[in-house]
Amino acid sequence: MELGLAGKRALVTGAGSGIGRSIALALAAEGAMVAVNDVNEAGIAETVAAIRAAGGRADGCAFDITDLDRVQSRVDQLSTGGALDILVNNAALLVGHAPFMETSPDSWRREIDVILFGTLNCTRAVLTGMIAAGSGRVVNVISDAARVGQEREVAYSAAKGGVATFTKSIAREVGPAGITVNAVSPAATNSPMRQHALKEIEAKIGVERLAEREQKVRRAYPMRRIGEPEDVAAAVVFLCSSAARHVTGQILSVNGGYSMVG
Ligand SMILES: NC(=O)c1ccc[n+]([C@@H]2O[C@H](COP(=O)([O-])OP(=O)(O)OC[C@H]3O[C@@H](n4cnc5c(N)ncnc54)[C@H](O)[C@@H]3O)[C@@H](O)[C@H]2O)c1
Repeated sequence: MELGLAGKRALVTGAGSGIGRSIALALAAEGAMVAVNDVNEAGIAETVAAIRAAGGRADGCAFDITDLDRVQSRVDQLSTGGALDILVNNAALLVGHAPFMETSPDSWRREIDVILFGTLNCTRAVLTGMIAAGSGRVVNVISDAARVGQEREVAYSAAKGGVATFTKSIAREVGPAGITVNAVSPAATNSPMRQHALKEIEAKIGVERLAEREQKVRRAYPMRRIGEPEDVAAAVVFLCSSAARHVTGQILSVNGGYSMVG
């Protein structure tokens, strides 16, 4: 199948780690030129080096997605040779894994700022060029935590729910301009974010109970495993491709069947 990604200009946020890094690698492997964004400069350098080592094209693009002025000026710089064709809003953070009543408004604000405002900022920054070009692809990485709810990740899930609704609403606005906006929704995926959360849980419940908990998690997945970053990247590549030209406003779960929302 021809994906039509060769020579496309892509920006992937949070691509210095985990799922974002896999997405950047997968887009570059299909011939896209990838701007690798993150706040972690060492992570950016590793991703860029991995892409170049594989024969792909990438440049680092460090900025904090919560700062709209900075986002706009970096996107303007990236667009000097032509509008960006692809934006993947992947960056996020999970401040802590704790019951809602033990979390603070500061932590809610931080999660909502990065996850929801960060997505709005980056999307706004790229849309001017995409609208002028009459084409574009935006893919938002949300979470099944937003689709079915997730205890101990309440503000994070609420922020992701905001991105899910944003995906559908903005897809309606920009569809007439030839732009598609979709979301992929991973469930548990083996990335640094999850490994960090597991360490926090292990500190609270111990190694043995964590191992039991992990077995239970796997039983909840019809495919009997959690996701790998590459599983999510494959879905993002599809949604960015010409093969998905008539798909917009959709949420594609990449979750081994963990939830099957109708
Ligand atoms: N890992 C999972 O189990 C899982 C499950 C569902 C959804 N997701 C989603 O997948 C995406 C990728 O997560 P991951 O698991 O690879 O996490 P990760 O922590 O490995 O990567 C997230 C990256 O985002 C970057 N980032 C954070 N704040 C930023 C900011 N303000 N500006 C720019 N970059 C910033 C981080 O530095 C980090 O490199 C996220 O949207 C996450 O919510 C992950």
